[in-house]
Amino acid sequence: MKILITAGPTYERIDPVRFIGNYSSGKMGYAIADACADAGHEVTLVSGPVQIKPVNPNVMVVKVESAAQMLDAVMKYFPAADGAVLCAAVADFTPISVADKKIKREGDNLVIELKPTADIAATVGKAKKDNQFLVGFALETNDEEAHAIDKMRRKNLDFIVLNSLNDKEACFGYDTNKITIIRNTGEMKRFPLKSKKLVALDILNEINSICIK
Ligand code: C5P
Repeated sequence: MKILITAGPTYERIDPVRFIGNYSSGKMGYAIADACADAGHEVTLVSGPVQIKPVNPNVMVVKVESAAQMLDAVMKYFPAADGAVLCAAVADFTPISVADKKIKREGDNLVIELKPTADIAATVGKAKKDNQFLVGFALETNDEEAHAIDKMRRKNLDFIVLNSLNDKEACFGYDTNKITIIRNTGEMKRFPLKSKKLVALDILNEINSICIK
């Protein structure tokens, strides 16, 4: 299959030297990209700024910085893909305008006005054909399952991978993750804490089970 994957954070520029970002390491998305490529799939990895590289040399990496650039790249590659796994921690807001010179320290408070970014998952969900699959992630702190199910429906996902910030050693920066996979059929699978490499294999198994109907 041709599989499109997003990973990492996005950086939203404030001025030539500053940005709004987040702590996403990209490790989960890169592990999924490697697992898919190791299984013989053709992988395009649209990645925000991260410090890591895929291990499998067959992964094609498309580097982007902002949410707008990530959306453009995803909409370019999705039509030819059999499906996508959207793992990136996309910024929800971006500055209304980017200062062309470094903002000086003067006056009291500095106000930076932000506008919402496009929801890439929801945009892909609308474009998705019956023969394409779409997988998303949810990172929640409270009412995890209810919020994840709501997200899966709103974004038209086939399944959503839920990770909770309440779990120790899961999520941002860690090499391990603890997930729950929720299918759009309502089926729910809880997995124990594992390395992100093994979590990637569980996600690939789930993709296989929806693609082999
Ligand atoms: O709504 P929320 O950001 O929690 O949804 C998370 C899921 O949506 C993830 O799969 C993430 O990659 C995707 N997403 C996206 N574009 C956004 C925000 C989230 O693709 N602007």
